[in-house]
Amino acid sequence: MTRHFLSLTDMDAGALREILGEAHRRKKARAGMPKGAADSDAPLAGHVLAMLFEKSSTRTRFSFEVGMTQLGGSSIFTSAGDMQLGRGETIEDTAQVLSRFVDGIMLRANDHNALVALAQNANVPVINGLTDYNHPCQIMADLMTLEEQGRDLKGLRLAWVGDGNNVAVSFINGAVKFGYQLVISTPTGYGPAGQMVERARAEGAHIELIADPRKACQSADVVIADTWVSMGDTDIDQRMSDLADWQVNDALMECAANDALFLHCLPAHRGEEVSASVIDGPNSVVFDEAENRLHAQKAILLWCLEK
Ligand code: CP
Ligand code: NVA
Repeated sequence: MTRHFLSLTDMDAGALREILGEAHRRKKARAGMPKGAADSDAPLAGHVLAMLFEKSSTRTRFSFEVGMTQLGGSSIFTSAGDMQLGRGETIEDTAQVLSRFVDGIMLRANDHNALVALAQNANVPVINGLTDYNHPCQIMADLMTLEEQGRDLKGLRLAWVGDGNNVAVSFINGAVKFGYQLVISTPTGYGPAGQMVERARAEGAHIELIADPRKACQSADVVIADTWVSMGDTDIDQRMSDLADWQVNDALMECAANDALFLHCLPAHRGEEVSASVIDGPNSVVFDEAENRLHAQKAILLWCLEK
């Protein structure tokens, strides 16, 4: 069966654990090498990845493209609007056509259903590069970063502060697989959609919903923020005002454990969801987190391609 990477919910916890292990190993093994040089085993030599973007990207694009180079393969980038997809060719036909040309497809989609349709009609692995629903590659990089900082994920207390968006959803899904505790603090109306939290809890996840961000951050080992306005959100002024009390700043970090780490998937907006003092401060690991997109995704690509 073709291995897709669409959501952590589809994944076996053991496979996710192996992916993180491979990411750590490969990162260590290539320390000091030029960034465009291939890993010594070049496991994806001769393989090509299509990268389709319906939304902007810096990290996802560069990390997948450099990742394929480091694995010995190559990639083709296109914004979906430049393809016939943008003129009405169906996602189903696009999936079949691309499957004849490439060994894997990465899609950043406005609508998660488009990603699922692509995977259902492709004969090659499809990887989620972010949708309106989730961002699983991001969470793998985030968890790798925490482990790199010497943190054991099991029982670790993570506090998500702000909008219960696509990245928050992947943290919820990850809580089932990795056994960390997740506290989610959002204003009313910004919580994770539907029965997601209940479903995760039924599968054994420890998830608390605590509206007050100060209480939510109490004893947290990790505090996490993301933009208040995600790509595709149009109610900008409303969000700015509704989320204003959910800024991660020094006062909020004071509530967390003394050595609490700060994560943000980036891009960040200093003075909005996070103060400059926190994101540029000593407990912030956001640039390791950004770098680890590369290492985590290389391991995801290898898992998908069964290498
Ligand atoms: N974090 C993240 O996915 O960044 P980009 O939007 O730059 O890819
Ligand atoms: N929640 C953000 C993440 C960007 C990487 C968005 O969807 O725009």
